[in-house]
Amino acid sequence: MARYLITGGAGFIGSNFVRYVFEREPGAYIRVLDKLTYSGNLNNLKDFRRKSNFEFIKGDICDEAIVRRAMKNIHVVVNFAAEVAVDRSINAPEEFLQTDIFGVYRLLTEARRQTQLKKLVQISTDEVYGHIHEGSFTELSSLNPRNPYAASKLGGDRLAFSFYETFGVPVVISRASNNYGPWAYPEKVIPLFITNLMDDLPVPLYGKGAQIRDWLFVEDHCAAILLLIQKGKNGEVYNVGGEQECTNLELTNMILKAMGKDQGLIKFVQDRPGHDFRYSLDCRKLRSLGWRPKKSLEEGLLKTIRWYEASEDWWRPLKKKMERRYVTGFWGEKK
Ligand SMILES: NC(=O)c1ccc[n+]([C@@H]2O[C@H](COP(=O)([O-])OP(=O)(O)OC[C@H]3O[C@@H](n4cnc5c(N)ncnc54)[C@H](O)[C@@H]3O)[C@@H](O)[C@H]2O)c1
Repeated sequence: MARYLITGGAGFIGSNFVRYVFEREPGAYIRVLDKLTYSGNLNNLKDFRRKSNFEFIKGDICDEAIVRRAMKNIHVVVNFAAEVAVDRSINAPEEFLQTDIFGVYRLLTEARRQTQLKKLVQISTDEVYGHIHEGSFTELSSLNPRNPYAASKLGGDRLAFSFYETFGVPVVISRASNNYGPWAYPEKVIPLFITNLMDDLPVPLYGKGAQIRDWLFVEDHCAAILLLIQKGKNGEVYNVGGEQECTNLELTNMILKAMGKDQGLIKFVQDRPGHDFRYSLDCRKLRSLGWRPKKSLEEGLLKTIRWYEASEDWWRPLKKKMERRYVTGFWGEKK
């Protein structure tokens, strides 16, 4: 049976991935290493904590001794651990450089020592390409990150590649578009809007809501990662897109409609500086391995809304702690 180390496994995508693997490989051994930053949450893993084939280690991927302990006897590492919020990276970039670059370096360095290791998947992002007005990015497109989060992620992405080229570490890199689904920290746009609307609060939309995003249901992302562990070629990059593009205004209207709420609840707020206009991925390379996104945006949104409606115990305490600007207004806005 495979032995996995999931770093950042107490976060949104990481915890969904742990669930996804256990559903398919109940006998697998899964170890999670997570620093439990503001977005890491042990409640996300509560269903597994009593399993004898599950282990949780609280710690930082930048810490050499912890990483050594965590990677011992592991066959597959999937690195989700990262600082991820673009707005936070604009306000305080340093932590992003530390975890998203140096932390990846620590994992890769330890991976060189662990001869039993078969695969290390570095979870990167479509934001490393920058934005595109027409057409879609392929894995060979130029890389032009436009905010500190994206630039830091690119550092980790290329470091991983360099450790494959230089030292033969069995690395595969995935670049995914915007994920959504259950267990997402409520500062992210979709859960923020759903939970605001559940309380009849306004939803703060950047600029005119004209930016275009591609939405990937988190389970489709998990399926892609598992496939890359099995079939991804070492040293290669794979785009993972939901192939469901829409403007932020269209997305907001879909959520409003699905929840039976009025458009008057949209509050247009000052745009984010350097706001990427559009992301779009060409996913033919991953499709050639047999993957395709299964959830339409409509279906995925409904599933996500139902989950938040049924999970108030989970998100209300988190939202209470969130900074006010993430709830009612956005950064840069003077009041
Ligand atoms: N959410 C998206 O739409 C999206 C899209 C593409 C790629 N990604 C990538 O997927 C990964 C997971 O994103 P997410 O949305 O689940 O984020 P998240 O913030 O929910 O999860 C990140 C997890 O990493 C942990 N962490 C942070 N710093 C750490 C450190 N130094 N050591 C150990 N653990 C640490 C946090 O505690 C948290 O549990 C990230 O690498 C992100 O760049 C996310």
